[in-house]
Amino acid sequence: SGGPARVVVDLDRPGDTISRHVYGHFAEHLGRCIYGGFYVGEDSEIPNTRGIRDDVVEALRALQIPNLRWPGGCFADDYHWRDGIGPREERPRMVNSHWGDVVEDNSFGTHEFMDLVELLDTEAYVNGNVGSGTVVEMSEWIEYLTRADDSPMASLRRANGRDEPWKVPYFGIGNEAWGCGGNMKAEDYVALARQYSTYVRDHAGNQVTRIAAGASDGDVHWTETLMRTFGPGLAESPEGAAGPFQAISLHYYTMTGPWEDKGSATEFSEDEWYTALSRASHMDELLSRHSTVMDRYDPYRKVGLVVDEWGTWWNVEPGTNPGFLYQQNTLRDALVASLHFDAFHRHAGRVAMANIAQTVNVLQAMILTDPDSGALVLTPTYHVFAMNAGHHDARALPAHVVLPEQPQEVDGRPLPLLSASASTAQDSALVSLSNLDASEPRTVVLDLRGREVTGHRAQVLTAEDTAAHNTPENPAAVAPTELTAVRPHERGLEVELPAHSYATIALDLA
Ligand code: AHR
Repeated sequence: SGGPARVVVDLDRPGDTISRHVYGHFAEHLGRCIYGGFYVGEDSEIPNTRGIRDDVVEALRALQIPNLRWPGGCFADDYHWRDGIGPREERPRMVNSHWGDVVEDNSFGTHEFMDLVELLDTEAYVNGNVGSGTVVEMSEWIEYLTRADDSPMASLRRANGRDEPWKVPYFGIGNEAWGCGGNMKAEDYVALARQYSTYVRDHAGNQVTRIAAGASDGDVHWTETLMRTFGPGLAESPEGAAGPFQAISLHYYTMTGPWEDKGSATEFSEDEWYTALSRASHMDELLSRHSTVMDRYDPYRKVGLVVDEWGTWWNVEPGTNPGFLYQQNTLRDALVASLHFDAFHRHAGRVAMANIAQTVNVLQAMILTDPDSGALVLTPTYHVFAMNAGHHDARALPAHVVLPEQPQEVDGRPLPLLSASASTAQDSALVSLSNLDASEPRTVVLDLRGREVTGHRAQVLTAEDTAAHNTPENPAAVAPTELTAVRPHERGLEVELPAHSYATIALDLA
């Protein structure tokens, strides 16, 4: 091989803004995400505010999470919001048929969710029910949430103890309409999406971005069907709002095996390490494909692409309820996350939001809580979100990776073993580097062009073992530390990345 890898960053070429909303989150009534995760009830011994765990709020506030999606997922199209308001003891129960077939007591409903949003200092993304709900139900929910006067729903909200309307900037028009959300064809769903969106009204100055339920994986036909419905007006000028909905979603999960046996979260071979990372890097290609279709109808990029479910989906931890989707989270998950963020940064002009699935105790979680002791653990994925906070609302910079070797082919596509992205905000920049090599460290020359660099701080996330993870007994097995192996280089900086590691280099610019 011919010398070290290079990452060429044009510091003077800021491009599209990376919306902080790509660092969004997701809370579904699924397993122990809400109950035991976010919410333990007022009588719990775990310190809480009106039933919401204080430690979870503190950990997520430290990430400055920009938004939280709720109540699903598949659960959203089974959920009837009126069951979750009023005195808790009088709320009707329901069966959570998708997730463990357990009985849901509706003790966490609209008021509890909006309380959580306020405690987190974040923004609400409420997902409505198209699959089994009515237009009037959806229309009344947004009225209940956001209307200020004495309308019927605003009055009902007040009777339930909340005077002021809430802000709800994001509203989902169903979920996975091609599957659990109604098993529809794209052509049938798009008619419903137009109809339901019409009745999700802007009340009292609350401006809603309506997000139509989009495609799975590479289903560009679904995306095209949604885009076609806008008509030629969308392409005519950069001005003017998009309608009837303003964004469309995309779901993509990373797994190493087939649906029936997705792979273990913690016990994997080197081949499975690379397969997972190759599949995660597929997100970049998916974004290109869906964006290409969207660009054709919407060259001014008025319609946002919202990746409102992404992340790893492994077999559940042995001994846990298969319907609860509880999985461990290793250094491999951290690199899956960093690859997704690199892709979101590269596609910042189109990707308006993304929501990892899911925030607590389900799939690729930031936070795991012990069902017995209640102990809270921050996962390696949490630390990637923390290390990347400097990318929120910064402008993407070109970051060109030049490798001395030909990338190996994994799972039918070349997998470069180094990934990078960068952004800038006024007098600073942040470079993210992922060394995907399971066993070899890597020297990287950061070729920093166009502006003078006056200082730097570097952090690294790694561990001895690729499957390292955090537990209540060893909560910092994978935690960021200072990366000291950063030296001045004639082109900028030279960085020594450990094998299987994620690093961020914060730069001060003159
Ligand atoms: O995140 C788990 C589930 O995955 C969601 O409920 C659903 O939308 C998707 O299939």
